[in-house]
Amino acid sequence: MIKINSFLLDSSADKYDNSLAKDIIRNELLLPEILTMLNKVEDLNILEAGCGTGYILKHLIKLNPKRLVAFDNLEQMVTKAKSIYQAENIQIQILDLEDYLPWRNEFDVVLGIMLLHLCKNIEKALDNINKVLKPHGRLIIVIPHPCYHFDTSFLDQIKNSGLNKLPNDRYANENIVHNQIGNPPINIKMYHRPTEFYINMLIKCGFKIKGIKEPVFNKSSSIWYFIPPFLFIDAEKGD
Ligand SMILES: C[S@@+](CC[C@H](N)C(=O)[O-])C[C@H]1O[C@@H](n2cnc3c(N)ncnc32)[C@H](O)[C@@H]1O
Repeated sequence: MIKINSFLLDSSADKYDNSLAKDIIRNELLLPEILTMLNKVEDLNILEAGCGTGYILKHLIKLNPKRLVAFDNLEQMVTKAKSIYQAENIQIQILDLEDYLPWRNEFDVVLGIMLLHLCKNIEKALDNINKVLKPHGRLIIVIPHPCYHFDTSFLDQIKNSGLNKLPNDRYANENIVHNQIGNPPINIKMYHRPTEFYINMLIKCGFKIKGIKEPVFNKSSSIWYFIPPFLFIDAEKGD
């Protein structure tokens, strides 16, 4: 039984898809960084977990990977992605990363792009990814930067509220954040967790950390020139 996540609180897959197409930070920072990290994909079996309407798939398919498989647990996302990529050689299905994945030791790379901050049970999600990766397979994660992104900018909260009225939430705590993405804005629910949580959970679930990246935008008129919008984690399935 597929659980419907509450990622899109007030919107549709169509509206979400339209807003991504116009998202300059995604198009000019997130996407190029992922493609640079992947480099050559012709020999790779790639799985995208939480593919949404297929924003990343659209670019990956042009690079001709050996095999491209994707899933999402929101039915309307999968329906939309399938309608766009019908003619392409991509297998797209409804599956829940926090439940069960039907593959074992099959993928060279798993992509979890802007996904884990939406998952309640990260340990289960990472265990499932570990099982589907080949030995030494690669996991590329991107999450909203825990220090800076959205309403999780604790420095802003503290500055705005003053020392007499500190915010209820602390950086170190796991907490639910209601947030807006895209333009026009779409309301979403996500989980804030500190960076150390992700790193330690990856290690607990059998991954080695190969590197992290905090790329910034190249236009000084943007806030993201000064602070990084995303945290990229490059991990490898351990022995
Ligand atoms: C912000 S979107 C990102 C989509 C795509 N990865 C991209 O970067 O364009 C996150 C997606 O993850 C999906 N998602 C959230 N929790 C999931 C879970 N437990 N299993 C599978 N998909 C999930 C949501 O439905 C949503 O489509």
